[in-house]
Amino acid sequence: MKTTIAEVSKYVGEKVTIGAWLQNKRSSGKIAFLQLRDGTGFMQGVAVKAELGDEKFQEAKGLTQESSLYVTGVIVEDTRSSFGYEMQVSGFEIIQEAKDYPITPKEHGTEFLMDHRHLWLRSRKQHAVMKIRNEIIRATYEFFNENGYVKVDPPILTGSSAEGTTELFHTKYFDEDAYLSQSGQLYMEAAAMAFGKVFSFGPTFRAEKSKTRRHLIEFWMIEPEMAFMDHEESLVVQEQYVSHVIQSVLTNCKLDLEALDRDTSTLEKIKAPFPRISYDDAVQLLKDKGFNDIEWGEDFGAPHETAIAESFDKPVFITNYPAEIKAFYMKPHPERSEVVLCADLIAPEGYGEIIGGSQRIDDLELMRQRYEEHDLTGDAYKWYLQLREYGTVPHSGFGLGLERTVAWISGVEHVRETIPFPRLLNRLYP
Ligand code: 4AD
Ligand code: MG
Repeated sequence: MKTTIAEVSKYVGEKVTIGAWLQNKRSSGKIAFLQLRDGTGFMQGVAVKAELGDEKFQEAKGLTQESSLYVTGVIVEDTRSSFGYEMQVSGFEIIQEAKDYPITPKEHGTEFLMDHRHLWLRSRKQHAVMKIRNEIIRATYEFFNENGYVKVDPPILTGSSAEGTTELFHTKYFDEDAYLSQSGQLYMEAAAMAFGKVFSFGPTFRAEKSKTRRHLIEFWMIEPEMAFMDHEESLVVQEQYVSHVIQSVLTNCKLDLEALDRDTSTLEKIKAPFPRISYDDAVQLLKDKGFNDIEWGEDFGAPHETAIAESFDKPVFITNYPAEIKAFYMKPHPERSEVVLCADLIAPEGYGEIIGGSQRIDDLELMRQRYEEHDLTGDAYKWYLQLREYGTVPHSGFGLGLERTVAWISGVEHVRETIPFPRLLNRLYP
């Protein structure tokens, strides 16, 4: 019977065959412990000389790291490992013997590992981070599908910018100029007017010269957009969505969180509602904490966000930022036009902003005025203005950065380990 490590619990006491790679091994005179992985999981195979015979046992002892093989044996319960099962190996067939696998069990530097990312992905921790990423994506589709959202895919090649022009990747589109999408938001607003509640999930690109643990050049964003929804209602969606994602990972990725030594007690507390603090109060809080460099009207940097987050044990919404430092499309506060109806959601433990969201301007005249102020008078933005002309409604939306969320939940330090093949300031390989 051919099966996978993920399925072995169904075959206790039975003989099965698994296609696997040898991750590591330990052996003594009469017994060899083979650490097997097959993509679906990690399991120990126990090879005993008395069972295999002299020749085959010598072959087992000589197996090299990352050799590929078909292993056959009986599955037994193993209460010592958290996986819970192991295989009593009765035979194996080598598919290919791998020689001198570059990533050995010893410590390697980050640059070396990043140069071997195509192989590094096989290792236990990297595998765990990717499984958590996969679970976050699964839980995202689940949440939005169950709540009546339609998935809409905005374009990646665009003629306009959504979040300012300084960080755009430029390319030629035959005779025209085009840009790689920084955010699907403007198109998602059009989609919300067609389908009510929508969400997107796709790659976005920012030519940011930032070399921090939170910045990627290519990253993936989940962007919901809701018609007939104000900013306060959008915050409720955000906290429910993030809570759903966290609780799903806690339920479905236990072995992965354990492989990463993630302290899950901090994650267990992450349930809606989340605290809110206004930008004004956040500035005051920072001053009280001894940050003398921050003045009202300035944007927060990473150390500021971390200091604010430290005052709460859940993610915190910082609301109503000054209009000056936010995007052109955000709706002004009805009583204070110098601030906008927006919020950034700051994750705990120093992971920074994971969501940026706002209520959008729905008034045609005000949007026309913003176009003037921001010099958006070209043809590229004509369609976006028409959304305010034909049946405009109050609407809100947000964007969750997938990699920062994966980093936070997995507890890995840097976003470069949260995407299979990271694109960084100095890295396009592999
Ligand atoms: O705050 P941002 O720029 O918001 C937008 O793009 C809005 N148009 C979203 C919307 O309302 N539909 O980006 C949203 C999130 C950030 O909170 C952050 O998590 C992530 O995207 N992000 C990045 N992640 C990794 N590397 C980068 N360079 C990122 N820039 C933003
Ligand atoms: Mg932002």
